[in-house]
Amino acid sequence: MTTFPTNERLLKVPLYIGGKSIEEVRRELGVDEIIKLASNECPLGPSPMAVEAAREALSDANRYPGTADLDLRRKLAPRLDAALDESNVVLGNGGTDVLRMIAQAFVFERGVNTIMCRASFPMWHIATMVAGGDCIFIKPTADYGHDLPAMAARINANTRVVYVCSPNNPTGNIVTQAHANDFMARVPERVVVVWDEAYCAYVDAPDYADSLRYVKDGRNVLVVRSFSKSAGLANMRIGYAIGHTELADYLRHAQNPFHTGAASLAGAAASLDDAEYLASNRQMVLDGRAFLRAEFEKLGLNSLPSQANFVAIVDPPMPPEDLADTLLHRGFIVRAMEPFGLPNAVRVTVGTQAENEKFVAVLGDVISEA
Ligand SMILES: Cc1ncc(COP(=O)(O)O)c(C=O)c1O
Repeated sequence: MTTFPTNERLLKVPLYIGGKSIEEVRRELGVDEIIKLASNECPLGPSPMAVEAAREALSDANRYPGTADLDLRRKLAPRLDAALDESNVVLGNGGTDVLRMIAQAFVFERGVNTIMCRASFPMWHIATMVAGGDCIFIKPTADYGHDLPAMAARINANTRVVYVCSPNNPTGNIVTQAHANDFMARVPERVVVVWDEAYCAYVDAPDYADSLRYVKDGRNVLVVRSFSKSAGLANMRIGYAIGHTELADYLRHAQNPFHTGAASLAGAAASLDDAEYLASNRQMVLDGRAFLRAEFEKLGLNSLPSQANFVAIVDPPMPPEDLADTLLHRGFIVRAMEPFGLPNAVRVTVGTQAENEKFVAVLGDVISEA
């Protein structure tokens, strides 16, 4: 075998292990009916309007995408806030790509660090490490929230980015406006705060922090959102960051040329008009998460209140990995949350009502056999 140059730091970067796909499980276990409640996807299929627009755009698949990026930014920005325009939005190949861009843009020197909650989305850790920086992990509060004062207190001269996830994956909790304001007052202006809001469409809490306010105030804030979840377009790979114009323009330097296809961009743009789809997806999630939590309680399980499209079961009566594995053999893909810094939990994505009911029935059997 020939040798090749290796970066020892890169080898230490944890691999992002996504949930298993339905096909994989079908092949591995030979189980026919598989219900996937593992990756916080929308189980309703994509918006038909998005599919139609993407199909139309495919007739130009021989060309690099033309104005599709600009078209989507122009349509999206004012819907986010009347004070925003296309100069405030940076699109990427999924929110994950945007998080990669952010790390490359700000974590560019050895010895610099980023700060994040220990029980949260692992991509920030991965992106920081790949970019060559260090991560400072802050323990969550006793009720699994971000410990924002502790996060602010750990900022030092080498801190470039602080990540906040609201609703947080995998705990489902949000940051309230009062806590957000207090936190932002403690963060030095030069530090970039990434407000990861991939699940914001499912929030119904009235005190949910409005992070766009900080963008409009000119703070160095990047709000990251995605078309993967609420628009049901995970496979189209479109995510975006919202920031003040100078920050957004700076971030664009880390963008790949033709970062995603025009069919995906056109699909995402069309999904914005499908109010019926967006509303039914949201309602399904709001009803489904309440149903799951109530049923988990009947089974004697503790779960965390959630403002997202998933519910975390904490301290189940068997090790989370074993519970996830047993459920897998019964045809349900859910995920143990050790890689997300929550080793005592299993995360269950809200499915359709029929899927939720089947899941709860099988979970009940598994728990009673434990
Ligand atoms: C908190 C959070 N941020 C960002 C993303 C990125 O999603 P995508 O790359 O599909 O846009 C996810 C996906 O699971 C997520 O959970």
